[in-house]
Amino acid sequence: MPNQKFRWGILGPGSIARSFATGLAALPEHELYAIGSRSKERADAFAAQYGATKTYDSYEALVADPNVDAIYASRPHTFHSEDALLCIRAGKPVLVEKPFAVNERQSREVIDAAREAKVFVMEAMWSRFIPITVLLRKLVAEGRIGEPRMIQADFGFRAGLNPEGRLFNLALAGGGLLDVGVYPLSFSSMIFGEPAQVASIADIGSTGVDEQAGVVLGHKGGQISLISTGVRINTLQEAVVLGTEGNIRLPAKFWNPRKLVINAGGKEEIIEIQVAGNGYEFEALEVAANVRAGRIESESLPHSETVSIIRTCDRIRSQWGLKYPVED
Ligand SMILES: NC(=O)c1ccc[n+]([C@@H]2O[C@H](COP(=O)([O-])OP(=O)(O)OC[C@H]3O[C@@H](n4cnc5c(N)ncnc54)[C@H](OP(=O)(O)O)[C@@H]3O)[C@@H](O)[C@H]2O)c1
Repeated sequence: MPNQKFRWGILGPGSIARSFATGLAALPEHELYAIGSRSKERADAFAAQYGATKTYDSYEALVADPNVDAIYASRPHTFHSEDALLCIRAGKPVLVEKPFAVNERQSREVIDAAREAKVFVMEAMWSRFIPITVLLRKLVAEGRIGEPRMIQADFGFRAGLNPEGRLFNLALAGGGLLDVGVYPLSFSSMIFGEPAQVASIADIGSTGVDEQAGVVLGHKGGQISLISTGVRINTLQEAVVLGTEGNIRLPAKFWNPRKLVINAGGKEEIIEIQVAGNGYEFEALEVAANVRAGRIESESLPHSETVSIIRTCDRIRSQWGLKYPVED
């Protein structure tokens, strides 16, 4: 039915699922329909707070609901591939939280399954769909700052050192790289594609995860990306594309921007785009548009790029000698 709302199911109603649900509330043509949790009480409480109709005490029951148009899979990193596969095998389009998977092998397994089953899957790299980021990409492609040659981007924040929490738990693939490093890596990939060279140093903390790291990416045409990340340090959280004729900067928080600053031709221009929700609504719109058009991937964040970003993470980690227990 063309006029029917796009109905979402949430798999794993935790912290980030709250932000996603808040974003959805800004979209009148979308509905938060069902919640699936290991705990019925958790599903019920989440549904009551965010206005969902159905609740399930298992993920299997959630993905089997014929009224769900797409699933948002929002458990910690190590569960992303198994949850995505569960959705795909049930024929359900799925938006998978970042990082898409913990390594390239897992990400390929999911993408291969989606392509074979002809089911839509996308990484929830929400920043890419926010209007200011879309505009930045367009301005760079149009040559507004000449030829882009360098990127500086960083995302680090100082979290309290809780060895049990997912950020510092090696068993849950904690650490800065997969939690926040993927944002500047994805930003670099959006402009320069997959790097040819990777050089990197990390400070591995007492729980065995990367607490802070610096990464230099060398791209085929000589472009360079300078990236820093961490979960024990507040960085500036900015991104700048430096070109031969100027630069475009996304001030903090570059991963959820409302404003960009262009410095070109000897003058500074600021462009602002305000949005109705909290920013998470745009990835939901991208999913619905693709699913309704019968596509299995997003043109703005194709499967091949998702795999390549995780491959870059693997290359970075191999330089640190960092393996997660789930990889044994
Ligand atoms: N896009 C963003 O801005 C953003 C921001 C923060 C986090 N994230 C991503 O979102 C994902 C979830 O992060 P979060 O902080 O929301 O996680 P969380 O609140 O700790 O957990 C989310 C849900 O996952 C399930 N879960 C949690 N720990 C589990 C465990 N040890 N074993 C099995 N299931 C477990 C629970 O679902 P049940 O209720 O079913 O038990 C929980 O409600 C991460 O991969 C993270 O990278 C994205």
